[in-house]
This record gives sequence, C-alpha cells and structure tokens, in this order.
Amino acid sequence: MQQRLAAGNWKMNGLHESLAMLDTLAEAHAAAKCEILVCPPAPLLATAAAQVASTPISIGAQTCHEAEKGANTGDISAQMVRDAGATHVILGHSERRAAYGESDAVISARAIAARDAGLIPIVCLGESEAERDAGQALQVIASQLVGSVPDGSSGATLVVAYEPIWAIGTGKIPTMEQIAEVHELMRQDLTARFGAEGAAIRLLYGGSVKAGNAAEIFAVPDVDGALVGGASLTAADFSPIIDTLSNA
Ligand code: PGA
Repeated sequence: MQQRLAAGNWKMNGLHESLAMLDTLAEAHAAAKCEILVCPPAPLLATAAAQVASTPISIGAQTCHEAEKGANTGDISAQMVRDAGATHVILGHSERRAAYGESDAVISARAIAARDAGLIPIVCLGESEAERDAGQALQVIASQLVGSVPDGSSGATLVVAYEPIWAIGTGKIPTMEQIAEVHELMRQDLTARFGAEGAAIRLLYGGSVKAGNAAEIFAVPDVDGALVGGASLTAADFSPIIDTLSNA
C-alpha cells in the first residue's frame, strides 16, 4: 500500500527566501511515515527541487498546460515542470477553474500531459456553497471526477483531492460525515472505473486543514492525506499536520 500524502499548496506566495522552511521540514520529518510534497510557485520549482534532492520531500507545480510546447505565452508545459525537478502537479484547483475557466476536459487533458511527462497529477474537485446547499454536492463531485480524471489512471500515477470551495481559506470545514460521504463516493466511482487501480488512487481532503483539525480528518475512512494551503507556508504550521498524518 502506498503511503499517505501531506501536500502543501503555496498558491501565489513565497520567494526564494521562503524555501528555508524546506530544510526545517526535511530535518524534522526525516523518518516520516507519510509522503511530503510542497508545491511552490513556478519560479521556485528548480531551486526547491535541487534543495530537497536528498530528503524525503517532493516538489510539485500548481498547474501545467496540456500542450507539449508552442505559442502559449505565460504557460508552462508538463515537460518543463518535470525538467525543473518536480514530480507532481496540482491540476484543476477551484481557483483556476474559476479564474481561468478550466473545464473538466482541459483538466483531463492536462492530467494526461502530466502523466506522459512522468509527473503525478493531483486532480482537484469540489462543490460550491450554493451547490452544497442545494443538495447537489455528490452529483457535482461525481461529474467532475468522471470528467477530469483521464482513462488509464492508477494508484501510482494519479491523486485526487476533494476541496469544497466554501472550505478553502475560510476556516470552515465540512462535518466528518460529509467528508466521509464524498470520499466514499469517489472511492466507489474510481473502483468501478479502474478496478483495483482505482481503489489504490489516493484521495486527499483539502480546505482549511490545520494542526487543530488534522487528526479528526485523517481518521475519516478513505482520506489518504491532505492538500493544505495556508497552513503549508511555514514549517511551524505544516509540521504538526505532517506529524499527525505520519502517526495516523
Ligand atoms: P487552505 O487551502 O488550506 O488555505 O484552505 C487549501 C487549498 O486551496 O488547496
């Protein structure tokens, strides 16, 4: 069985000086029993990857384009991300779905490009507050899951993150029952589609994960780790979450 995954998404935060926290994490979690991933902004990828080379920490990007190369000003290809030394890429984060209109089809194409480049995509899904209030959360998740996870996915080549939009950066989290319900649905759908490989795909919860709520979230069935935003920016905040997952 694969280890659980503590992933940090720095979003548009951090300069080279911020990478010092990687040394602190590497030292504190040399014997961690979970995988540790940090996804800094693109300009920091190569430096970060070189810095963690002989540590248990991995580095990921926050998006990539589906094309191999070409006239796409401002975009970065999966191969460029891999070339920088990263091993993972977050795809379809709700902030990108909202700001850049990334559709399920585009996210799926990006996941294929990432996989072809040797990266592990972390495909993000999540319902809005209005959809949750209207009782449509499960429907929305099922539809995003089938649309944004490409054919041929497996436990070794893809991770899925459930991030309810209303829980991101708000300090609000779903009830443990709500998390369990969504994760069970994702597990069932992935297993129906990919068999044992679907059962092996790691399912992260994301949205206001903090040291104070990590233990109860990691105890929910089918939660294989977390995608952490704000609390991944400093070692002081991220370390206790990693410890909790490592000991869970
Ligand atoms: P948050 O962000 O932990 O700051 O809520 C999570 C995310 O957007 O990945």
